Amino acid sequence: MLHQEIVVENQRLAREADIYRLVLKGTVADTAQPGQFVHIKVGSTLDPLLRRPISVAGINRPNGEITLFYRVAGRGTRLLAGVRPGESLSLLGPVGKGFTLPTAGELLLVAGGIGIFPLFALVEAVDRSQVKVKMLWGGANRDFLEAVGRETLFQMGVDYAVASLDGSMGQPGLVTDLLASELNKKGVLVPETGEGNLLGSDAGCPEDWGRKAGFSVAACGPRGMLRAVTELCIQAGAPVEVSLEERMACGVGACLGCVCTVRTTDGALERKRVCQDGPVFDGREVVWDEKD
Ligand SMILES: Cc1cc2nc3c(=O)[nH]c(=O)nc-3n(C[C@H](O)[C@H](O)[C@H](O)COP(=O)(O)OP(=O)(O)OC[C@H]3O[C@@H](n4cnc5c(N)ncnc54)[C@H](O)[C@@H]3O)c2cc1C
Ligand code: FES
Repeated sequence: MLHQEIVVENQRLAREADIYRLVLKGTVADTAQPGQFVHIKVGSTLDPLLRRPISVAGINRPNGEITLFYRVAGRGTRLLAGVRPGESLSLLGPVGKGFTLPTAGELLLVAGGIGIFPLFALVEAVDRSQVKVKMLWGGANRDFLEAVGRETLFQMGVDYAVASLDGSMGQPGLVTDLLASELNKKGVLVPETGEGNLLGSDAGCPEDWGRKAGFSVAACGPRGMLRAVTELCIQAGAPVEVSLEERMACGVGACLGCVCTVRTTDGALERKRVCQDGPVFDGREVVWDEKD
């Protein structure tokens, strides 16, 4: 699980959003799956002690390379930004449970801000001759969306729609507005009646739920957005997977610093470790009220 990987590239992509692309060569690429992450030791000394979790955003198995995108958020990612090509990094991973890869039908991807990074890997992994893929992406404004990866989306040739809070790019508003429009276009969005709502229901989720939808949803972004996406998917009868973000320490399931609560199919509450049992969960199983 511990690997030394060689830095092929560590390049700043955008000054405004302080975003970097990091390409690493080694053995993680052999087994990495979309939705998994790597836990990176960012310094050469014991300080900082804790590794930093970054999602796998691209997997090039023939070349033995993975691509990560990261935003400089604090001390650890600032140290990471100083790493040069040719140096090596200690990685734990690939860690966790990733997204389910659909083999037919349609996949709607919903991304909030830098939550788009792990979804890049999912776009690449899906066989687009068999599965219709559409990305819905929301961010603060045009500058942010351009900086974080609109070019990457464009290069991937994936159908996409964007929403910006200030209306400077795409539809004004939230990415969940885009999702609601998309579901309305499909005619599947049933208004909530208050009865039979599975979000937080004691009954748990029926096993066959969503099988007939013909499409599924995968989402990554802030917790409030993921909750809203799940609510919409429940109203639409569509399966939904969400990638949760929690502060992490060990990354191997030992410290229990990253636990969340899920409700299983039989209605029982269970504590799950986001680093090992996730970060991708069935949205209907997550107990969203826990942190509200
Ligand atoms: C599963 C997972 C995947 C992620 N993927 C990406 C990605 O692809 N690109 C990206 O830019 N960021 C990603 N993040 C967030 C990234 O891990 C944090 O921004 C980073 O750890 C911040 O570290 P720092 O030292 O720069 O900031 P500081 O705020 O100084 O960090 C202090 C401590 O808090 C922890 N921490 C701070 N923010 C977060 C956070 N949001 N999530 C988890 N731990 C945090 C750090 O690991 C560190 O232990 C991911 C987080 C998780 C949990
Ligand atoms: S980070 Fe230690 S159990 Fe998940």
